[in-house]
Amino acid sequence: MAEFRTLDDLDVAGARVLVRADLNVPMQDGRVGDLTRLERLVPTIKELAGKHARVILLSHFGRPQGRAVPALSLRPVAAALADCLGGLPVAFAEDCVGPSAEAAVTALAEGGVLVLENLRFHGGEEQNDGEFAAALAALGDVYVNDAFSAAHRAHASTEKLALLLPAAAGRLMEEELAALAAALGNPKRPLAAIVGGAKISSKLDLLGNLVAQVDVLVIGGAMANIFLNALGHDVGRSLCEHEMAATAREIAERAKAVGCRLVLPLDVVVAPALEAGVATQVSDIAAVPADQMILDVGPASVKDILGRLESCQTLVWNGPLGAFEVAPFDEGTNAVARQVAAWSRAGQLMSVAGGGDTVAALRRAGVMDDLSYVSSAGGAFLEWLEGKTLPGVAALAGGG
Ligand code: 3PG
Repeated sequence: MAEFRTLDDLDVAGARVLVRADLNVPMQDGRVGDLTRLERLVPTIKELAGKHARVILLSHFGRPQGRAVPALSLRPVAAALADCLGGLPVAFAEDCVGPSAEAAVTALAEGGVLVLENLRFHGGEEQNDGEFAAALAALGDVYVNDAFSAAHRAHASTEKLALLLPAAAGRLMEEELAALAAALGNPKRPLAAIVGGAKISSKLDLLGNLVAQVDVLVIGGAMANIFLNALGHDVGRSLCEHEMAATAREIAERAKAVGCRLVLPLDVVVAPALEAGVATQVSDIAAVPADQMILDVGPASVKDILGRLESCQTLVWNGPLGAFEVAPFDEGTNAVARQVAAWSRAGQLMSVAGGGDTVAALRRAGVMDDLSYVSSAGGAFLEWLEGKTLPGVAALAGGG
């Protein structure tokens, strides 16, 4: 892992500290739908405020593409953050650069917290523009990146800004990197991965990297359909990227060549449609009816997966095993999640999970707090697992 400074190395008393946070949270009816990302920022913000810094939070929110989109204002998120901070006042500035931002920063007292408006209201953010980064840098004395979940983006606030000011990682960034390094840096073996989700085409790099590293690779979700289809099974009306069959065969062959045990479903839960209350049946993978869709792994598959995982010491998990949003197609994912949680609680398994759907599935299974570590990142978690360099992390190591 690249070396970088942390909050321990900064003298922040009285300083204007620009904290790149990820306030990109799900909204429901104008309110924050899930507070996880905000709650995880609390340690960094409280520590800086406690050290008498002036804490200035920078973040993107949604994808407004360089225009001010009122529905993507960070104002309601700032209010929710204040609640997470136990009522500590959080000021808000209507722009992230220019006169309103400057005035808000000037008005900020030592120990105060300020949220600046959505960075992506300016095209310069995603363009990693030098002038935009310089305008942000002018608002602060020190830069702290606590947005691991946005570190896969080479944007002005995640990359260029880190090179313009003394830079350090925040506590959440440190925690995420340490947890991932512990899981995959020098893992206790056997090491397993569960990869699910809909499309193999979006996870090719991930599978390629994991096959070379893990001892057991469990494939679930619609991605498993591609492998089943590639191995000659009829998958009926299931979601399946049929054109990826050759790629799936290649991955299966590579796994065999390097001694990675590929675990595919033995039986599946099928139904005529992905709807609550629909009639379901369990089918052997060799006998999926032509008019049915595979929507979950079956009980024999769950038993087989748990049997394979039981002797493993480390697990990374990205992607649900079935269409977990609609009951009863969450049963396979729930059963595996609960057992993984039990092994993790017992200290028998180091389990690390991440990705938007995966976190939602774990929450639904009621085990969010029981895995060894659940990353708040989606895309960044995946890119880290793929073995890619994250620009936001690399920039911290090269900071001013
Ligand atoms: C995320 O939610 O994964 C991060 O906030 C990054 O968002 P983006 O995919 O819009 O860059």
